[in-house]
Amino acid sequence: MESGVGDVVNLHFGWFDNAAEPIAVAQERATRELLAWLPVPPARLLEVGAGVGTTLALLIERGYDARGITPDGSQIDFMRDRYGKDFPVEPVRFEDMALPAEKFDCILFQESGQYIPLEALFTRAAMLLRPGGQLIMCDEIMPGEAESGESLHSLVQLKSVAAEHGFALRHARDQLARAAPTVALMLAATSRYREDLRQLLEVSDEQIDALDESNRKYQSKYASGKYGYVSLCFSFAGAQADQAGSSQPGSETPGVFKDIKH
Ligand SMILES: C[S@@+](CC[C@H](N)C(=O)[O-])C[C@H]1O[C@@H](n2cnc3c(N)ncnc32)[C@H](O)[C@@H]1O
Repeated sequence: MESGVGDVVNLHFGWFDNAAEPIAVAQERATRELLAWLPVPPARLLEVGAGVGTTLALLIERGYDARGITPDGSQIDFMRDRYGKDFPVEPVRFEDMALPAEKFDCILFQESGQYIPLEALFTRAAMLLRPGGQLIMCDEIMPGEAESGESLHSLVQLKSVAAEHGFALRHARDQLARAAPTVALMLAATSRYREDLRQLLEVSDEQIDALDESNRKYQSKYASGKYGYVSLCFSFAGAQADQAGSSQPGSETPGVFKDIKH
């Protein structure tokens, strides 16, 4: 409704240049900027958490040998309805993925990494990526140390687990200021479309209130610096480094939000 295209195009935050622009424009920018870190096609890509398939379809259109996964059967049905029954998506959790015949050149987590325990995420990624491959992600995150009771990953811990598995951080960007308007927009939207949400999605007032409450909690944690949003790009040294538990690549990584270029 908000994007005016009558369809769900993306399930991720927008990266806004200004808070007044349409969410669809900001979401499309987020994908475009994230994909700028990809290797050039043709390359074997895995998109983890393919959502409604928009990014995966774009990758295929750009000439990548790309496939996607999501554990959500309704998303699989939605993608197959939209893109055809041969759309290359599988209903599986990343942590349960079988080893492919050929390893991937790149694994992409566009706001799906926060749902996967860190140890499982980097263990599986090390099994699925070829040496020299890339792991690219963007997500909400806690910039500081891990805390019990918090559902987001700690960036400090993420970098440490990544390094233990042979992943060296190449780029890190703080996207919070650009992503945060998404939450304000969601709060405005639940107010504007409350009646439609109740009727079309059959959700209750209590559920909408709980969503608003959760969004306000996120807003205050963004404001206090407890929660953040980053985009990250790692390169994988290879299984040998992983087995040796090498943490050396991580020691060369930049400060939390500094970007380094090669
Ligand atoms: C916020 S949505 C993002 C969807 C899509 N990447 C996008 O940007 O529009 C999170 C996605 O992660 C998927 N997901 C959640 N847990 C997962 C897991 N354990 N393994 C793989 N995907 C998972 C969800 O089903 C959903 O597709």
